[in-house]
Amino acid sequence: MINHLIASALPYMPKKFVWLFSRRYIAGETLEAAIIASRKLGEEGISVTIDLLGEYITTLDQAQENKETYLALIDRFEKEQIKATYSLKPTSFGLLIDTGACFGHVREIVEKARDYGAFVRIDMEDSQCVDAEIELYKRLHAIMPKSVGLVVQAYLKRTPADVRELVKLHSAEAPVNFRLCKGIYVEPPEIAIKSREGVNQQFVELLDYLFRHKVFVGIATHDQFLTNAAQKLIERYGLSKNDYEFQMLYGVTPELRARLVSAGHKMRVYVPFGKHWFGYSTRRLKENPRMAWLIIRALFLRG
Ligand code: FDA
Repeated sequence: MINHLIASALPYMPKKFVWLFSRRYIAGETLEAAIIASRKLGEEGISVTIDLLGEYITTLDQAQENKETYLALIDRFEKEQIKATYSLKPTSFGLLIDTGACFGHVREIVEKARDYGAFVRIDMEDSQCVDAEIELYKRLHAIMPKSVGLVVQAYLKRTPADVRELVKLHSAEAPVNFRLCKGIYVEPPEIAIKSREGVNQQFVELLDYLFRHKVFVGIATHDQFLTNAAQKLIERYGLSKNDYEFQMLYGVTPELRARLVSAGHKMRVYVPFGKHWFGYSTRRLKENPRMAWLIIRALFLRG
């Protein structure tokens, strides 16, 4: 209870204070910081997916600016020869303002990545965005199937039906490619499974379904129950290292991450960076309020 209160209050506290918590989860404010973090992970045999922070914009000028920044960051990462994919949130490109303009921006980004032989993952945002984000993926998949993928959220009751529909698009020439995660937004019980066991069960069922249909999955979780279940499925279906990868967020459960890497699995870390780290951080705090309490305790103890 107290942890939740602290987590809810943190967005109203000074930014410098929140940064104490956040720096563990964010590479930094600049592109240089993202490059340094990515190189370090590369030395541990870990790939990265780069995310520029700054979703839920309010003007199309901001969408244009975000697109230019993404294009420049892809050029830079490819020039630096860092093995990266790129993750983006469609609301950063105006999804909730003008879906046509958003499609144009994201298309340009995916084309740029495709020209380098790279890949763009469309993050899944809160439930008001799901239909539009699936549609965006379908349109891009029809043009550049091997250069784009989508995230699916195990907590949404609709996801098995969405996945069954999307898997119909899957073929050797036009593979679909998903990141499977639990889902991070606070959604009502009418549309989302609320119990941890229920979400985990749907996660495993979705993973099983996708593996059975030979779909590449980025298994995005820090939950050991799920990494164990995933490893059992990988074994049962006799999958090769190129059929899946594990994915984790920057700074979260590095020990579990290292164990999976030493067991021989491919690992990709989601590296967020940018000036707009505040919104991202407060979402993480709400997700895991225990961390907020640890910081506050540490500060008081030090004092
Ligand atoms: P769970 O929340 O049960 O965590 C398992 C354990 O991991 C915890 O007990 C704790 O030890 C540790 N842990 C988890 N989060 C932590 C944190 N923030 N700080 C410290 N420890 C933590 N969601 C979404 O809706 N759309 C998206 O596009 C994405 N994209 C995405 C990419 C990648 C690479 C990952 C790993 C995750 C996402 N997510 C996401 C977030 C995802 O939906 C989910 O909210 C988080 O991964 C937390 O769920 P876990 O499966 O890790 O389990």
